[in-house]
Amino acid sequence: MDSNIIVLLTIFFFLESVLSYCPAADHWSGWWGYDGYASGPSSWGDHNEDWVICKTGKNQSPIDIKPQALLYDPQLQPFKLETASVSGTFRNNKRDLTLLVNNISPAVNFTAGPLSYTYRLYQIKLHFGRENVSGSEHHIDGKAFAGEIQFMAYNSDLYANHSVAQVSPRGVAILAVFISHLPVDKLLPKSLDHYMTYAGSLTQPSCRETVTWIILNKPMYISSKQLTDLRRIPYQEWRDSNARPIMPLNRRTIRTNINFGKRTRLCSMEVSKRYVANPDVGLR
Ligand SMILES: *[C@@H]1O[C@H](CO)[C@@H](O)[C@H](O)[C@H]1NC(C)=O
Ligand SMILES: *[C@@H]1O[C@H](CO)[C@@H](O)[C@H](O)[C@H]1NC(C)=O
Ligand SMILES: *[C@@H]1O[C@H](CO)[C@@H](O)[C@H](O)[C@H]1NC(C)=O
Repeated sequence: MDSNIIVLLTIFFFLESVLSYCPAADHWSGWWGYDGYASGPSSWGDHNEDWVICKTGKNQSPIDIKPQALLYDPQLQPFKLETASVSGTFRNNKRDLTLLVNNISPAVNFTAGPLSYTYRLYQIKLHFGRENVSGSEHHIDGKAFAGEIQFMAYNSDLYANHSVAQVSPRGVAILAVFISHLPVDKLLPKSLDHYMTYAGSLTQPSCRETVTWIILNKPMYISSKQLTDLRRIPYQEWRDSNARPIMPLNRRTIRTNINFGKRTRLCSMEVSKRYVANPDVGLR
């Protein structure tokens, strides 16, 4: 599939640029961060009235994805990525590494999958840690990966730009790809076809709950050297990782198009979770 190749190129472009990036002076004005009592994630909601939802929100991200809680949804279509290439400017803002996507080049679009609108890529963020066992924001069954690349797109059908979209309903879609570590050569996620999806928030202030998360089932593997290079990038103002701690799921549904129960009909949720309309009694 073309789109797979494209997303991989994007990832490579991204990593290579990170490795060769020379940080400039800090132009960032905020004071929030990942460490410490005063500025760490637990205090984000106290500092700015626009960020209150960081503290009070019930649909926050990231989350720990428990495989047994996944709901198989046979209606979920493969996710689609439309693009030729991507270019942009890197910013080492001390909290993460962000590629601000160039507006001039043709838009990179996210469509289909769980999305009913077209979303336009506007930035790519990298979260990672100093250790192999931490760095990703989302966890799977209590385990973190070495890192997480987040491709952030805004709803370009409804909103003029990402600033407006980030604070508006159905505003943002984020494609998350885990980074894992292999001592051998790099392997790549083979497809965008299988993913998990849930409704959540931005993982940095303002923590707005406007995000449809799409988490790829396959991590992307990078070498020891690439990971070491990443960890050596200077001016990262955090001790262990720039991952926000896990937030409570609070009865949200995490859907997937991975049919774990395919082999045994008994275990499949496809049939067992269906309502039947009864003309006499209504739903039963
Ligand atoms: C993305 O969508 C926009 C507007 O719908 C369109 O102009 C553009 O060509 C699309 N990009 C690609 C790569 O198809
Ligand atoms: C990460 O794992 C690799 C391969 O197993 C190992 O060589 C390296 O020392 C580990 N690094 C850390 C920081 O644990
Ligand atoms: C985003 O769009 C809104 C509404 O059209 C506009 O007021 C605002 O200036 C735009 N912001 C940026 C950063 O372009």
